[in-house]
Amino acid sequence: MSDVLDHDIVILGAGLAGLRAAIEASRLTKGKLDIAVLTKNQMMRAHSVAAEGGTAAMMRPEEGDSFELHAWDTVKGSDFLADQDAVELFVKSMPAEILQLDHWGIPWTRREDGRIAQRPFGGHSFPRTVLAADKTGFFELQTLYDTLNKYTSVKHYNEHFVTAILTENNEFRGLATINMTTGKVSLIRAKALIIASGGGGTLFGFTTYSQTVTGDGMAMAYRAGMALEDMEFVQFHPTGLVPSGILITEACRGENGYLVNNKGDRFMSRYAPERMELAPRDLISRSEMTEIEEGRGFKGPDGLDYVHLDLRHLGADRINERLPLIREVCIEFNDLDPIDEPIPCRPVAHYSMGGIETDIKGATRTKGIWVAGEAACVSMHGANRLGSNSTAECLVWGKITGEETAKYCRETADLPPLAEKQMQAEEDRVFSDMLQRNGKEDLYAIRRELRSSMDQYVGVFRTGEELQKALDKIKTLKKRFQQIHIEDKSRSYNTNLVHALELENLLDLAEVMVTGAAQRTESRGAHARRDYSKRDDNNWLKHTLATHDPDGPKLDYKPVNITTWKPVERKY
Ligand code: FUM
Repeated sequence: MSDVLDHDIVILGAGLAGLRAAIEASRLTKGKLDIAVLTKNQMMRAHSVAAEGGTAAMMRPEEGDSFELHAWDTVKGSDFLADQDAVELFVKSMPAEILQLDHWGIPWTRREDGRIAQRPFGGHSFPRTVLAADKTGFFELQTLYDTLNKYTSVKHYNEHFVTAILTENNEFRGLATINMTTGKVSLIRAKALIIASGGGGTLFGFTTYSQTVTGDGMAMAYRAGMALEDMEFVQFHPTGLVPSGILITEACRGENGYLVNNKGDRFMSRYAPERMELAPRDLISRSEMTEIEEGRGFKGPDGLDYVHLDLRHLGADRINERLPLIREVCIEFNDLDPIDEPIPCRPVAHYSMGGIETDIKGATRTKGIWVAGEAACVSMHGANRLGSNSTAECLVWGKITGEETAKYCRETADLPPLAEKQMQAEEDRVFSDMLQRNGKEDLYAIRRELRSSMDQYVGVFRTGEELQKALDKIKTLKKRFQQIHIEDKSRSYNTNLVHALELENLLDLAEVMVTGAAQRTESRGAHARRDYSKRDDNNWLKHTLATHDPDGPKLDYKPVNITTWKPVERKY
């Protein structure tokens, strides 16, 4: 039997949601709980660190903002698929999170009157995005990390790759992990698990995500029996830098940047005359693709045609003060200075609105397992998330799941029974099967083909025919995956093995995403079908649930929780 490492709570993921959860559980119990935070990377390397533009919160009722307005913007932005009880809880929880981070020392950007600054963001009808220049994720994560370090009862497991979430009788049993530095396998056992492992954006080739974001938590939860909800809704951010895909923050438009086509027109005037560049992301991405497809874009490399994001009129001082990272990225990666030249941008895979199904407190239907952040589908983003609502969601549901698991640990005396047999089976699967594969297939070629099929067929606009092509391709790739060749047979730092396990996760998620998208014969939010171009509330005002089956995902549906706003036509 491999090692067994026991804790009260184990948190899978060290991004904003994971660290916020660890702090809350520790704080509530005055550091008495034994908490493990696991990451396959290292602390402060979670993808949250790359969040740029800010975090939405209602901070200024006296200047015209309100909880109702933030909630309405979010629900309308979601194309009415968000659960409205979750949205209401979210907006009311956010101001305290901003002030909490302030008290923990974050250097929020300030107004001249000394108050916390806020900037406009797409789909929000009030400038409510709190910021730390354009490095908000970095400062938030650093602040949480520094705060968490006060608790010596929290153990950090860096470079630990989890291969399976073990469950039995629909209850959590533990995590099967590989210590990547030694290759040693351990069962990490705890009373409660919080999955905070982020999204799965590297399913796409052109993406803002770091290469480490491979949907591991979502895929493992799915294989362990939890449902994935609304996975067909993928957000394409309107401004990915061409050709790298690096995020060019929406804050550029919040600071009054323009989107311009090859005729020099600010084309958003034709698609969203009131909101212009601050319309929601789904609408801007479709507008950009229409400009490009109708010949009003600029020719880019490898088919990456683009439009221009023009910041020149903001002037050097504003760019240096509010958008220093963007300037640095453009100079480093494209050898262009946005003070003098427009930035080449196009829609880029950025966020998964779907995730592991949870209730409003982040609990799954598997006893002992909660989910927070992008890995979860609470669901507060519905079919299209508003910019700056996701770092916010991580804070709110990080806190809630930290609280809930701390309470659960108080009420639960014992650790789960030792999952010896399951652990052995998992070790055999990884080391006697996967690691020993000597077939003729190159796993990196499979990964490339997966990404290019997703880019080609499951993009901003989709059709039934294209989705079927993507599904056929995914099924073929899954078969070929059985015949991969793993060159490196060693145990220590075997990134070749890790890449195979990650690819297995990506293939499962791709299948779920495309199956859900093919079934949903309507256009809603980020799911825009050319063959079903209208929203269809009669048939599709419902959430998709996908559960694992050896023959492929099984789909079911559940109603949207509508407390306040009935769906109406969505105009900007
Ligand atoms: O554009 C951005 O800075 C991204 C923000 C977000 O996805 O919320």
